[in-house]
Amino acid sequence: MDISFSPIDLTAQPTLVLGVLEERTLTPSAEAADQATDGAIGRAMAAGRFTGKKDQTLALAAPAGLDVDRIVLLGLGAPAKLDAQAAQEAGGALAPALNALGATRAAVALDHLDGCPLEPAQLAANLVCGARLRAYRFDKYRTKEKDDDKPTMVALTAMCADPKAAEADHAPLAAIAAGVEFTRDLVSEPANVVYPESFAEQVEGLASLGVDVEILGEAAMRKLGMGALLSVGDGSVRESKLAVMRWNGAPDADAAPVAFVGKGVTFDTGGISLKPAGGMEEMKYDMAGAGCVAGLMKALAGRKARVNVVGVLGLVENMPSGGATRPGDVVTSMSGQTIEVINTDAEGRLVLSDALHYTRTRFKPQFMVDLATLTGAVVVSLGTYQAGLFCNDDDLAERIMGAGQSVGEEAWRMPLGKRYDRDINSEIADMKNVGKGREAGSITAAQFLKRFVGETKWAHLDIAGMAWCKKETALVPQGAAGFGVRMLDRLVADHYEG
Ligand code: BES
Ligand code: MN
Ligand code: ZN
Repeated sequence: MDISFSPIDLTAQPTLVLGVLEERTLTPSAEAADQATDGAIGRAMAAGRFTGKKDQTLALAAPAGLDVDRIVLLGLGAPAKLDAQAAQEAGGALAPALNALGATRAAVALDHLDGCPLEPAQLAANLVCGARLRAYRFDKYRTKEKDDDKPTMVALTAMCADPKAAEADHAPLAAIAAGVEFTRDLVSEPANVVYPESFAEQVEGLASLGVDVEILGEAAMRKLGMGALLSVGDGSVRESKLAVMRWNGAPDADAAPVAFVGKGVTFDTGGISLKPAGGMEEMKYDMAGAGCVAGLMKALAGRKARVNVVGVLGLVENMPSGGATRPGDVVTSMSGQTIEVINTDAEGRLVLSDALHYTRTRFKPQFMVDLATLTGAVVVSLGTYQAGLFCNDDDLAERIMGAGQSVGEEAWRMPLGKRYDRDINSEIADMKNVGKGREAGSITAAQFLKRFVGETKWAHLDIAGMAWCKKETALVPQGAAGFGVRMLDRLVADHYEG
């Protein structure tokens, strides 16, 4: 969908979109159109349930008196509540409504609204960004889809008094959206296309934005002693990789970076502790944590964030084979700590243990946040509405939850504690990779990670329930969600940019 900005002109495109505030209050542009059409807008609203409640839409075909094919009314609700997130959500509601109507080109008029915290230019920039996020579709493998079944929208124009200002406000939002789309593309791809090496190649493409990328192969990781990460890839014919990305945007080039670490299991069969066949295809998205970190780096570099950032991805495929790690095997992590692998399906923590230790010792970051589709148990706890957040620092936890609230990507803080930690003690090694049966599965997984972060401020986001969207929401179509990119971009923007 092509996005552009222009001054307000009610007949600029065949489909005209007009805002209506709560209780059928017309915005100035809607008022002008109502007069031009001899009251058609007022009559259409009165004839139906459309009241201007946020995200409602109502279409009027071929209104007499105005040279457009149709008018679409878009509910904006109460102006006082129309902040950046709400404006994006309105755009998110608009995109599918326009496609359902078969519209190809639309222009939305954004006026000054009394009591609204946003200028029209900001409204415009956020609204089109929301429409773009919601209109995402991964359809490259559908070769036989009929045109009638494809979305129709090709161009969306946001009209406001100061289109130049809207364009400037839109630039960072477009960078964030491009980051989210990068994540969604990576996560949507099947595991025969995105595997550790091809994932690493995708990441190398970020060099064009000024991101410094290093890829470590198995030989380099073996030298570093990453026996935990490497053990997960032992059963796979694909070579494991560690991708290290750096964006240095801080005014002080030597300022300690912030660090993000992603679980990138490009396919999780469970290994020798094989998963049941039903639904196993979903495990192509077991690299969503790494996908998020890659998209976040793209967003931050794309908007030239004034911060030093490190992104580290542990990229492995978890397969059963004659070379695979067995239940009961003991592996030695880069930290020197030994791990008894009770269940080869608890592989994400093995990958992250080495990635976290590497990140901490090499970069000495201000904090580390890891993202991982780590446990089915977190989906039992929190469902698909909030990620599980585990954190050893209250301020960092508050900041992450606050950032999530502002962008509609929420996290709920879960506990850590000595008794959970004790549950992963092993009889023959320093620890084992599972706790007591099914009890507190997400927490014992987090305790495992905590043994590799030392004194560094650290947060773990278990996104197993958030990575794949089964039912579309305001800004997320069905499929790969891109969860975490907007939340962590906001975390950085609000607290860590110099
Ligand atoms: N990748 C899975 C977790 C997962 C489940 C992600 C559902 C997305 C949706 C992880 O590697 C896993 O298999 N975890 C096990 C841990 C158990 C063996 C201790 C689980 O949750 O069952
Ligand atoms: Mn697993
Ligand atoms: Zn997994």
